[in-house]
Amino acid sequence: MAMASSCSSATSFLLFSFFLSFSLPFFSSAISTDTIYAETSLSGNQTITSRGGRFVLGFFTPPGSAGTTSFNYYIGIWYNKISVLTPVWVANRANPVTDPTASELKISADGNLVLINQFKSVIWSTNVTTISSSNSTVVVVILDNGNLQLRDGSNSSLVFWQSFDHPTDTWLPGAKLGFNKITKRSQHLTSWKNKVDPSPGIFTFEMDPTGNFQYLYLWNSSRIYWAAGMWDGNEFSSATDAPSDYRAYRQVVNDTDEMYVNHTVDIANHPTSRLVLDYDSGQNQVLVWMENSKWMVVWAQPKSKCTVYGVCGPFGSCSDFSSPFCSCVKGFRIKSQTDWDLGDRSQGCERKTGLQCSGLNNDSAHSEKDGFFEMPNVRLPDNPNTLATAGSREGCQLACLSNCSCNAYSFNGSGCFVWHGGLLNLQEQYNQSDAGTLYLRLAASELQSSGSNKKRMVAHISVGVIVPAGVVCLFIIGGLVWKRERRRAIQNSKVVQNSLVSFMYDELRMATKNFSEKLGGGGFGSVFKGLLPVSIDIAVKKLEGLLQGEKQFRAEVSTLGAIQHVNLIRLIGFCSQGTKKLLVYEFMPSGSLADQLFHSNFNVLDWKTRYQIAIGIARGLAYLHEQCRDNIIHCDIKPENILLDAALVPKVADFGLAKLVGRNFSKVLTTIRGSRGYIAPEWISGMPITTKVDVYSYGMMLFEIISGKRNLIYKGESSYEFFPLVATNKLIIGDVKSLLDQRLEGKANSEELEIACKLACWCIKDNEISRPTMSQIVQALEGNLDVGIPRVPRSLQVQNES
Ligand SMILES: *[C@@H]1O[C@H](CO)[C@@H](O)[C@H](O)[C@H]1NC(C)=O
Ligand SMILES: *[C@@H]1O[C@H](CO)[C@@H](O)[C@H](O)[C@H]1NC(C)=O
Ligand SMILES: *[C@@H]1O[C@H](CO)[C@@H](O)[C@H](O)[C@H]1NC(C)=O
Ligand SMILES: *[C@@H]1O[C@H](CO)[C@@H](O)[C@H](O)[C@H]1NC(C)=O
Ligand SMILES: *[C@@H]1O[C@H](CO)[C@@H](O)[C@H](O)[C@H]1NC(C)=O
Ligand SMILES: *[C@@H]1O[C@H](CO)[C@@H](O)[C@H](O)[C@H]1NC(C)=O
Ligand SMILES: *[C@@H]1O[C@H](CO)[C@@H](O)[C@H](O)[C@H]1NC(C)=O
Ligand SMILES: *[C@@H]1O[C@H](CO)[C@@H](O)[C@H](O)[C@H]1NC(C)=O
Ligand SMILES: *[C@@H]1O[C@H](CO)[C@@H](O)[C@H](O)[C@H]1NC(C)=O
Ligand SMILES: *[C@@H]1O[C@H](CO)[C@@H](O)[C@H](O)[C@H]1NC(C)=O
Ligand SMILES: *[C@@H]1O[C@H](CO)[C@@H](O)[C@H](O)[C@H]1NC(C)=O
Repeated sequence: MAMASSCSSATSFLLFSFFLSFSLPFFSSAISTDTIYAETSLSGNQTITSRGGRFVLGFFTPPGSAGTTSFNYYIGIWYNKISVLTPVWVANRANPVTDPTASELKISADGNLVLINQFKSVIWSTNVTTISSSNSTVVVVILDNGNLQLRDGSNSSLVFWQSFDHPTDTWLPGAKLGFNKITKRSQHLTSWKNKVDPSPGIFTFEMDPTGNFQYLYLWNSSRIYWAAGMWDGNEFSSATDAPSDYRAYRQVVNDTDEMYVNHTVDIANHPTSRLVLDYDSGQNQVLVWMENSKWMVVWAQPKSKCTVYGVCGPFGSCSDFSSPFCSCVKGFRIKSQTDWDLGDRSQGCERKTGLQCSGLNNDSAHSEKDGFFEMPNVRLPDNPNTLATAGSREGCQLACLSNCSCNAYSFNGSGCFVWHGGLLNLQEQYNQSDAGTLYLRLAASELQSSGSNKKRMVAHISVGVIVPAGVVCLFIIGGLVWKRERRRAIQNSKVVQNSLVSFMYDELRMATKNFSEKLGGGGFGSVFKGLLPVSIDIAVKKLEGLLQGEKQFRAEVSTLGAIQHVNLIRLIGFCSQGTKKLLVYEFMPSGSLADQLFHSNFNVLDWKTRYQIAIGIARGLAYLHEQCRDNIIHCDIKPENILLDAALVPKVADFGLAKLVGRNFSKVLTTIRGSRGYIAPEWISGMPITTKVDVYSYGMMLFEIISGKRNLIYKGESSYEFFPLVATNKLIIGDVKSLLDQRLEGKANSEELEIACKLACWCIKDNEISRPTMSQIVQALEGNLDVGIPRVPRSLQVQNES
């Protein structure tokens, strides 16, 4: 979370580009500022600056290390024109020098670029064989894209070494990251160790060294914790949401020698951006430089920090719903507060009170016996030992108690698992099918004193959100632990939680040009168009009405923030600043389905498109109902809440009324939500509702997709026609053609039309149990499930009469 973003006064002198002040025997200083020649060198505060002035090479101390007593200096490259010292490459990342004025970066006799410390030993070298074309010498040049090249002095195509081939933690536009099929080597990013130490950290990112066209995230160079997905000719299958510029300007090469990706953005006309493997979260983050002097994370992968292996260290616990996302498990404390604060949690946590380990038969000390703390709904730690002998939870507990090195156990109904040593990769508030209950072994005193212990402030959004008044837009999903975090959090006010971006109000005001372009409005507020850096079009919803707004805000962030599907609208981020609550979505250029069906007379949607839209919506809802982590009932399906992208792919939107319900049980919801004309009858009668209320609404909407009209049509003289009733009757006598939108002039696939009509009738059956599930709807629309002719539902007639 802590991003290198604070600029210290002690290091700020390094930010000034410095023109070489000593005399050069053969060259004028004006042309030599981007080059180190055989006769010259860098030391102290001397730098070279790329020709266009974007990048600087020189000695620096890591940002954020000011205030600490020891100063380590590194040779690195950073942005010249950015007010926050941001290194993008480091040469001697593991071997700092302490006295830069006595150290020297120069070209050695063998033609390599070397760094010599104050004791005159070479501590870093490009270490290549340089063969000059002629008698000309070797030079070192910093280029305007941030690349440092060691090359022939008279032939610039003859490059012996370049920093782009040896990246540290940053992938700059114009650099490639790939795999060489001949040498079998791949370039990789390695995170910094922590905020102030650029030495290689625990996370790496590289192209699969086995030669598959995919990128891997590794922990300790051994364990893969995330893969960006295989290249399918078009996309990396798990990274399809990358910022559009990073996809649009991507050069992908797979030839006989190598495979790689090169983001070739036009640096002159583009906001400054970089991709960094973050030491703190193990995520790749794309950061963009904002006008208001800070870096903003616009994209991160993997989405959940808790996906990152061992991200909280031994006995640390990760949660997607608390902030900070790492904490120690009960009875444990942070082992090294300094390292932890710098974002290096590899040492994790340690026991506050040692175990008694009094064994099984030590009744004399009954009250002192170790006990167990129950942690339900967790992702169990890594590397358990399986005990075949214990056949019950009690047996499993005894087995753990009887071994002094056992720290925890879990019993899943048939298997007993025990953990010796550190618990790694534990995640709390983990509602997935592989979740379990962990019993953590603690000293008796730790279990007793639980009341007096400082409680961790972990609040799930659906339970309650703490938004301290006056704090600028620092709302983080699920409450905050202030205290020590507070100051740091304010400095780094961009916080990504599950990849949701937390925006400042002013940023959104700027992005929307002061909320000038209104896209629409509703009961909860208005929606405005905006544009983020890296050319991301957004729709910003400004919530109004304090109580309702707050409710809707929570509902949207807690449901939509955690899921991703091509047929569900993507929530990019949010802002919560005092009473100002805003939600930021991807922008949908084609408006809503209601706009397309009812308000557009020139571009009438053809049948094929309508059918694809119906399938897409059904897929999105099937995902919500059946496949994602929690079952989610949308509760307000209607054409206004279906948005369409440029290719008319439908996206279910507006989750302000959505309800999270646990898997496999229905939730009693008595307050009626939803919109008239789409509400299922059981809801009106106060019965518990299930996902089938969405099916009902979907059916009602399907009728409107078929007819291109609202279901309830005023016929004049206070008489109405209710289309679903008409349609059911027509269907029974076998006349579906007449139901089709007249503007289509009969142009529709008659099989599909019949399926759609029958399906719509099936969806609106009185008894929710008789209605299809969303996945059955998908199957039916795809022609893989037969649909019979239904009877006229009684509630239809009732609705028609009233
Ligand atoms: C660079 O260092 C020299 C001597 O150490 C000092 O005189 C000079 O002012 C410094 N230049 C800058 C720009 O800080
Ligand atoms: C230079 O590379 C060789 C092998 O390529 C290696 O053995 C040697 O340790 C390297 N030297 C330095 C200073 O990195
Ligand atoms: C290199 O320089 C030496 C002496 O300056 C000269 O004799 C030789 O011909 C030169 N070689 C090339 C390839 O220019
Ligand atoms: C410069 O080096 C490149 C690459 O080795 C070579 O193809 C080219 O002929 C050289 N040009 C000159 C003028 O020597
Ligand atoms: C990457 O793209 C940049 C900009 O288009 C280009 O100059 C550079 O040669 C490319 N690099 C590779 C390795 O293809
Ligand atoms: C990383 O792996 C090395 C061996 O490959 C091992 O010695 C080291 O302990 C590991 N680090 C951690 C934190 O587990
Ligand atoms: C890359 O190229 C190799 C051979 O040239 C081919 O076998 C492989 O399928 C290609 N991979 C992708 C992802 O295109
Ligand atoms: C019983 O517990 C006491 C302290 O509670 C401990 O000193 C003693 O070693 C234990 N005895 C056995 C047999 O474990
Ligand atoms: C406790 O468990 C460890 C790890 O499985 C094992 O090496 C050790 O022998 C066990 N100790 C006892 C007393 O059973
Ligand atoms: C419990 O774990 C064992 C061993 O991994 C596994 O075979 C079994 O299916 C699990 N049982 C349940 C109910 O998950
Ligand atoms: C997980 O499920 C439990 C019980 O089903 C519930 O109390 C908890 O709030 C859920 N957590 C999340 C993050 O959904």
